[in-house]
Amino acid sequence: MFPWNLVVGQALTRRSDHGCCRNGFERADVHSIRRWWPSPSIDSGVPMKFGNREVAVSREKPNEFAKELFEPLPRRYNLLAWLLSFGQDRRWRLAMLDHVVGSDPRLILDVACGPCAVTKALAKKTKARIVGIDLSEDMLRMGQSNVEEAGLADRVSLVLGRGEQLPFADGTFDALTFTYLLRYVDDPKATIAELVRVVKPGGPIASLEFAVPRSSGWHAMWWFYTRAVLPVGGLVTGGKGWWHVGRFLGPSISKHYRTYSVDWTVGAWEHAGVEHVEHRSMSLGGGLVMWGYRSA
Ligand SMILES: C[S@@+](CC[C@H](N)C(=O)[O-])C[C@H]1O[C@@H](n2cnc3c(N)ncnc32)[C@H](O)[C@@H]1O
Repeated sequence: MFPWNLVVGQALTRRSDHGCCRNGFERADVHSIRRWWPSPSIDSGVPMKFGNREVAVSREKPNEFAKELFEPLPRRYNLLAWLLSFGQDRRWRLAMLDHVVGSDPRLILDVACGPCAVTKALAKKTKARIVGIDLSEDMLRMGQSNVEEAGLADRVSLVLGRGEQLPFADGTFDALTFTYLLRYVDDPKATIAELVRVVKPGGPIASLEFAVPRSSGWHAMWWFYTRAVLPVGGLVTGGKGWWHVGRFLGPSISKHYRTYSVDWTVGAWEHAGVEHVEHRSMSLGGGLVMWGYRSA
């Protein structure tokens, strides 16, 4: 039995009849959100200047770093992510979902759900109940708001927590998705094993990550885009928070694949007990969709 009483979706009840704060949620609600790990202090000395040094910090203190990085982004995240990827991120998400929805799952976990673009799409394409989990409270609040607006709140529950340490029993879910997560954990292999743990035998698992184009011509264009266009485009369309993200993303993606190649990642999935692992490079190599099935 899934512990529905522990999910944050119930804590984040909109109180329209009171004076309210951010996104219409009373501050008191924040304290009732269940935490699944000792909460690190946001003022933990993480330097947020977003150069190469910050890529290293994103691995040394990944949870604190991700929380601070994503804190100013939720309100316009989906629109800006779409603009900054020239509309490609929606295509990538749909390509990932295709590997999960066909099995007619009843209960799906969406890890690093952010403002719930994937979560909502899963709810629209299936009859399943979806649990979204993310470590950013601000992202979850935006996600809750988006899910309510889409009229999907009855089938979606959001949990504040970490992909590295999921608060669910083994084999709880029929299917699992995770998006743009592995660059924000210090041990991708252990995290992949933790994600696989909560999926039922035979259940599909699919992920989406940014990637680095292989051909030298596309790589040069990608490099220019991520190092110059992305930060400036982010600043112009989204302000300082997006300038920071824009500056961080390119070096972070490059460094990730220097350390953890696509072949390494396939091996980590297999080692965790995933069979028939396949992947698809999208948009000339800028996106990577990977999928497989938990071994029986
Ligand atoms: C780029 S956003 C992706 C959001 C959403 N899945 C999408 O496709 O638009 C990455 C999300 O990962 C979350 N995140 C980062 N590290 C995490 C971790 N260790 N566990 C859970 N969520 C994490 C961030 O808070 C952020 O919301």
